[in-house]
Amino acid sequence: MGDVFILGIESSCDETAAAIVRSGEEVVSSVVYSQITTHQPYGGVVPELASREHLRAIVPVVRKALEDANQTYDSIDALAVTKGPGLAGALLVGLSYAKALAYSLQKPLIGVNHLEGHIHAVLLEERQNGNRELQFPVLALVVSGGHTHLYLAERRDESWTYHDVGHTRDDAAGEAFDKVAKLLELGYPGGPVIDYLAPHGNPRAVKFPFAQIKHRDRNPQNRHPDDDHRVDFSYSGIKTAVLRYVDTHDLRARIEKRRQALGPLSTPSREQVLAACDPETLDLVASFQRAMVYDLVGKTLSAARQHNVATVLVTGGVAANSELRTAFEREASEAGLPIHFPSRKLSTDNAAMIAAAAYPRFIAREFADPELSADAGLRLR
Ligand code: KG4
Ligand code: ZN
Repeated sequence: MGDVFILGIESSCDETAAAIVRSGEEVVSSVVYSQITTHQPYGGVVPELASREHLRAIVPVVRKALEDANQTYDSIDALAVTKGPGLAGALLVGLSYAKALAYSLQKPLIGVNHLEGHIHAVLLEERQNGNRELQFPVLALVVSGGHTHLYLAERRDESWTYHDVGHTRDDAAGEAFDKVAKLLELGYPGGPVIDYLAPHGNPRAVKFPFAQIKHRDRNPQNRHPDDDHRVDFSYSGIKTAVLRYVDTHDLRARIEKRRQALGPLSTPSREQVLAACDPETLDLVASFQRAMVYDLVGKTLSAARQHNVATVLVTGGVAANSELRTAFEREASEAGLPIHFPSRKLSTDNAAMIAAAAYPRFIAREFADPELSADAGLRLR
């Protein structure tokens, strides 16, 4: 088959994105319009505002992606759009637009699971870098603001299947970064700023014990054979532990001082946030990140051993974290396991990953029917 150009559209959370990807192996253009400044004053994504911003951005973002790729509405071969999981209203904007566009252009439309998109971000870049042979079985950690999931991925011809072998029982890892940053008045989103601040503190200053999660259902009849190999995550406890530390170490006044210093600046730079932090806060931030990284790396590699996998993929917004990358690379190389990440740009939400995940489905002619609708709680299998 000749070159296939797929226009991908992504609007599941707070990024409006469009991209053109050639044959699942080359990012020809990728445009991401981030709504960060809209949500920043609230310290988190406000769903109603997200939908409104997607509505405003979707047409110019798609146009720019086509222009940057020297493509037109007519020259592309197919469209791909995120159908879930995500915010219902936000998903609907991208989905309705993609459906209308595909219908009017008489081109095939492919519905893509956002989590499968994150996994294909890694595969896309590996192919782009000339690495075509991936050893199976593959274990993928998808770690973002909404998800902390471990999947065993298998491939038969063009068809991929995913088996959930562990996920968070409560908060996602990115959510913990965001909530801790909000609590400490460090800004939004929390991941990138904590990533920047952590090297300025002592990661051994504060100990955060992680609870071992026991199986909820102790009745043997209700258990699945895979349960023994399940690895579960939980991140609501560490958020409470940070809160407790703040209260027992009199950090409240310093948080308030920081709020007053940074409040008047509409988008404080990382350097300004750092300047507003005292050593104790930096130690707390460094220790929090260290605990998160150790938990994610430890549990992922333990799942990799249990399932005897040949390759590990780490993807999603939190995969952009520097300490997480270094720790994964070190530990995986010690274990003799090949590990792959997307570039930082493709770790966070983008549409190139959606267009890439759609390519095998394009080859298999798995096109969406006209009833395709958004599914906020869509699962990956
Ligand atoms: O994948 P993504 O863009 O959106 C979702 O699908 O959720 O992930 C966003 C999440 C946010 O929680 C953000 O704080 C986190 O990824 N994040 C990071 C870093 N960059 C983004 N967390 C830790 N370190 C980073 N460098
Ligand atoms: Zn995402």
